[in-house]
Amino acid sequence: MRSTVSRGLMILAPCVVLVAFLLLNQETGSTRMNTASSPPQETPSLGKAIFDSKCASCHGAEGKGDGPPSMQLMVKPRDFTAGKYKFRSTESGSIPTDEDLFKSVREGLHGTSMPNWGKFMSDDSVNAVVEYIKSLSPRFKTEKPRVVRLGTPIPSSPASIAAGKKVFEKLQCGQCHGTDGAGTDAVATDLKDDWGNDLEATHLTEPWNFRGGSTARDIYMRFRTGLDGAPMPSYAGTASEQEMWHLANYVVSLARKPMWAMNEQELSAFFTSLDQLAKASPVPRGKYLVESIGCANCHSMYTDEGFVVSGMKYAGGLTFDLYPFGTYTTRNLTSDKETGLGDWSDEEILLVFNEGIRKDGRKLLPFPMPWMGLAQLKDDDKHAIIAYLRTIPPVSHKIPDPETPNIFSYLWGKFRMLVLKESIPGPAYPMKEVQP
Ligand code: HEC
Ligand code: HEC
Ligand code: HEC
Repeated sequence: MRSTVSRGLMILAPCVVLVAFLLLNQETGSTRMNTASSPPQETPSLGKAIFDSKCASCHGAEGKGDGPPSMQLMVKPRDFTAGKYKFRSTESGSIPTDEDLFKSVREGLHGTSMPNWGKFMSDDSVNAVVEYIKSLSPRFKTEKPRVVRLGTPIPSSPASIAAGKKVFEKLQCGQCHGTDGAGTDAVATDLKDDWGNDLEATHLTEPWNFRGGSTARDIYMRFRTGLDGAPMPSYAGTASEQEMWHLANYVVSLARKPMWAMNEQELSAFFTSLDQLAKASPVPRGKYLVESIGCANCHSMYTDEGFVVSGMKYAGGLTFDLYPFGTYTTRNLTSDKETGLGDWSDEEILLVFNEGIRKDGRKLLPFPMPWMGLAQLKDDDKHAIIAYLRTIPPVSHKIPDPETPNIFSYLWGKFRMLVLKESIPGPAYPMKEVQP
């Protein structure tokens, strides 16, 4: 099917863009960063050239964080025009130092798509592009970074870790991170950043995903300065210097064994425990599946710029022109009783996943709705998806039934494709064209 192939390409394109970065030419170099925070240069032409070729694809041509792959990325690229940065050694609300930006660019931000550019360019190039992104926000011209100085670390010990656990409880880090640090019983789960994007509180048991580093010092710096633009607040002044170091040591101690260090028995025990956890709390499992399968990519309404219309995520409305099969509009998956899935039983939704049959008996095509793939999921996972869909607040949005052609135009379409070998225009993904 030509049409499905071109749809697939549309979805794959952002991934291809990402892979392309890994194939970039490697440069080497080792000039050290200037550690002071200088005001941005007036003509950062080298920096701009690097930015245009290596950063704009994700961060957007104007640095607003809106490059084409951004809608597919779970952690959205930074909007540099706001001058708000997460990983700083400066007070909450302050601009970062040059060194902070240099470190993020050079080392990358683990657990997100932000690459470690130090592997692909010299320190001089990193400096130049840092100067350029500073020039995108007026804050760097008028403000000075207010640098935070940390005292001497307290070495980790069972006593320090035990004291740190108390501080963790006192400061209620578990509200977002869970009392186990792995999010299990977190109460604040609907977190958004200042730009309205969904965010997850980092699993403190997985330090390899800490973007600002995983030493006690890095961790102290994170909760001392907060992550500007994200709901992770600054804890400046909430505990004594000593208590802060104990807390940092406690967070370090939460690290679980990474999968790559496990032997066969440990791996199988690990996966069994994940399965048990998924069974015990299906909603987070369902959310994880729905987000990674990308149901919202199809089941949402989009602006002409390719962004989800506010409030219309999962409410359906994206139309696929699948010549010669007809025109299909994605359905409303929210819990609305009239126009969404609110009134469907679990069995009725399962019938869509397993056999592609709607509750009114209509059979879905095997594309674009990937029900044949969903049918392969384990039953627990299908139930988890349904459990999560039920938590999506109702949005009233009536979806038109598909417009299917009469048998003659259908056969004529097939004839054009198969016999005349005409190239049939692929269905437009009604979003902004993805630039290669
Ligand atoms: C493949 C996509 C991608 C590319 C290409 C990319 N970035 Fe990023 N970048 C991200 C994402 C995603 C984030 C947000 C991470 C987060 O919020 O934790 C980010 C965040 C940042 C930050 C913010 C750090 C902070 O403290 O808040 C800086 C600085 C940055 N990128 C610089 C660059 C520069 C410079 C380039 C080009 C040399 C570049 N990025 C290329 C995805 C990308
Ligand atoms: C209001 C919710 C909330 C609270 C309370 C909270 N955090 Fe966070 N924390 C977050 C979120 C959200 C992130 C991830 C932010 C992101 O994705 O940009 C995060 C990230 C982190 C990180 C990872 C930073 C990195 O380098 O990637 C650490 C460490 C951390 N928090 C520690 C703590 C500690 C310790 C406390 C208590 C003192 C705490 N947090 C309290 C929401 C919270
Ligand atoms: C590539 C696009 C695409 C993706 C991804 C996708 N869907 Fe669909 N889905 C559709 C289309 C199009 C329809 C409507 C087909 C029709 O009306 O014949 C549909 C129909 C459905 C229906 C039937 C509802 C009704 O009212 O008829 C359910 C349920 C559903 N999708 C759930 C999901 C879930 C859950 C996911 C993610 C796990 C998902 N879909 C991912 C395109 C998609």
